[in-house]
Amino acid sequence: MGTPVAIEAPLGLPPVPIPPDNPPTGDSVALGRKLFYDVRLSGDDTVSCATCHNPQLSFTDGLAGSKGIGKKIGRRNAPTIFNAAYYSTLFWDGRAASLEQQAGAPIANPDEMGQSHELSIKKFEKIPEYRKEFELVFGPGRITIDKIEKAIASFERTVLSGDSPFDRYMYGGDRTAMSDSAIRGLAIFTDKHRCNCVTCHTLDEKYALFTDGKFHNLGAGIGKNGELTDLGRFEQTKVEADKGAFRTPSLRNVAKTAPYMHDGSLKTLKDVVDFYEGGGSSNLQLDKEIKELKLSAQDKADLVAFLESLTGKPKT
Ligand code: HEC
Ligand code: HEC
Repeated sequence: MGTPVAIEAPLGLPPVPIPPDNPPTGDSVALGRKLFYDVRLSGDDTVSCATCHNPQLSFTDGLAGSKGIGKKIGRRNAPTIFNAAYYSTLFWDGRAASLEQQAGAPIANPDEMGQSHELSIKKFEKIPEYRKEFELVFGPGRITIDKIEKAIASFERTVLSGDSPFDRYMYGGDRTAMSDSAIRGLAIFTDKHRCNCVTCHTLDEKYALFTDGKFHNLGAGIGKNGELTDLGRFEQTKVEADKGAFRTPSLRNVAKTAPYMHDGSLKTLKDVVDFYEGGGSSNLQLDKEIKELKLSAQDKADLVAFLESLTGKPKT
């Protein structure tokens, strides 16, 4: 069943958490990669995971709402899978607890890949090449959804991106890696009295994931009459305060993953900075950390330059 392989984290990222019951091997990663790019996981053989998580677009689709089987448009923006290995809750509303648990969901989702787990298994059992590869990874036995999920998750754990200009400046000792404007932007980003971006998009002395893994309401994508168009975390917890709250996204590669927010409602990084300057969109559950900010045109350009310095090197 193969020897587990070590996954080396790039500069600026912590060691990759590996679940004891699914250590990645060369063969499981290769199988997971193949499944990730295989349209046969969808009901009409047109959509693969990579349709919406396209490596050419930093593993996103560049759309506000994703386009699934039969051109159905989903209500949420496809996040990148770069560094998804580090999240302990997945999806904007945190409804999956692991990459394994996450992977089965889009296959059966009628708006995404639209193919039941039973049918997926039947289809792949008929492909001799896959039968062989599943046996190589998991030993003799039938293909199961559990095996499909494990292989895909192992592949995803290798889809990492760090070693950005920010990482080289901050953690690699290269003081020339970031522009002066980006360095000023970093200072604004981390100044809790000016912009407390870093309260939610966290970083520490050794690593930066730029997310606290928690859920916050910024009022992004609020309707014309001030109503929440997506209840977010509340759908999972039924806790009033979670209405309209979404998991803080990492900001790594953010310059490459427009449009922004859970619904893709903001088109550029400048739009995002303007949105924060205005204190988000007022609503009953607005996070108390979100307030109007005093920023000059230069400060805003510096913040954008800083966000652009987070574009890393892909390691897949
Ligand atoms: C039709 C487009 C589409 C397809 C196909 C698709 N995804 Fe996604 N993916 C999304 C969207 C949209 C979200 C966010 C949904 C939400 O949060 O409710 C998402 C979320 C995710 C996440 C969570 C990322 C995070 O930051 O929490 C992972 C991981 C992921 N998808 C992997 C996959 C895998 C693996 C497949 C194939 C089995 C796949 N996706 C197929 C659109 C798609
Ligand atoms: C209270 C926590 C919090 C603070 C403070 C905060 N953010 Fe965010 N940020 C979030 C959450 C949550 C989202 C996603 C919101 C949504 O989709 O509705 C987000 C989204 C973003 C996005 C879009 C990312 C994407 O992939 O769509 C960017 C860029 C961003 N924040 C930058 C900043 C900057 C710059 C600051 C400081 C001016 C800041 N954030 C302050 C929690 C926070």
